[in-house]
Amino acid sequence: MSNTSQPYGAGKARKTVTAPDIQAMKGGDSRIACLTAYDYATGVTADESGADLVLVGDSLAMVVLGHEDTLSVTMEEMIHHTRAASRGVKKALLVADMPFMSYHVSLEQAVANAGRLVQEGRAKAVKLEGGRNMAERIRAIVDAGIPVMGHLGLTPQSVNAFGGFKAQAKTAEAVQTLVEDALALVDAGIFSLVLEAMPAEAAELVTARIPVPTIGIGAGNVTDGQILVWHDVLGMFDRFTPKFVRRYAELGKEATTALSRYCEDVRHGRFPAEKNTIRMSDEELPGLKKIKPKKRK
Ligand code: KIV
Repeated sequence: MSNTSQPYGAGKARKTVTAPDIQAMKGGDSRIACLTAYDYATGVTADESGADLVLVGDSLAMVVLGHEDTLSVTMEEMIHHTRAASRGVKKALLVADMPFMSYHVSLEQAVANAGRLVQEGRAKAVKLEGGRNMAERIRAIVDAGIPVMGHLGLTPQSVNAFGGFKAQAKTAEAVQTLVEDALALVDAGIFSLVLEAMPAEAAELVTARIPVPTIGIGAGNVTDGQILVWHDVLGMFDRFTPKFVRRYAELGKEATTALSRYCEDVRHGRFPAEKNTIRMSDEELPGLKKIKPKKRK
């Protein structure tokens, strides 16, 4: 990275990352490392890993709340989880997803709900899905002083319109639309853009054409940064694993093994051990013998 005033990466000395910092990383030496998180514990681990940006994604509907898609998560739930994550994320830029139907109805609704994610959830920026149809809303949110991250390609809130979680921008015509949408979002004021599930060629073209960083997920190794879902990276979500995920651990399996050892220890009287036990002081012990059973009436 050419800008040496940006000590990103893991370690206590790194600076707090802002939306303008992320924007300034476009074209730098270092790609932008992003993760999702959904509460205090996942926020702490994502932040301490050195991630530049932590997203409280509406993927929380699926990986935390167990819904089949992202459509059911509400504003109240997003605020609740963002606020919890904000207590753990100290250095990375904390971005909150705007849930389905929280910005579609009107400009006023979009600004008010973006404001709630910042004011009540303590997010530093918001993300919303959609192309030129969302440009006016993005402009209004940015005018309210809230940085906005765009999201194009496979936008999961449109799963029903797409007919499933399917890769997008697979034809030259669709890539033309994608580039035009990306430019419309840039004009509206986004500081970065997520590109999800598309051919690398499409993502590469968008990345070259826009002045803000692109953050890929299933968009090849051509974007300015990458993002993955916490549970996917750590092997904690087993319903399905998209081709574009790399698992860096199998914590789900490790957790099951550890918890079944605990259950077996309880069943066989091996837990708690003496060192896990609170004992009465020697001076108090004689007093125990004087305790008489209460007379029943
Ligand atoms: O909801 C989410 O987690 C997301 C990322 C995968 C980009 O939108």
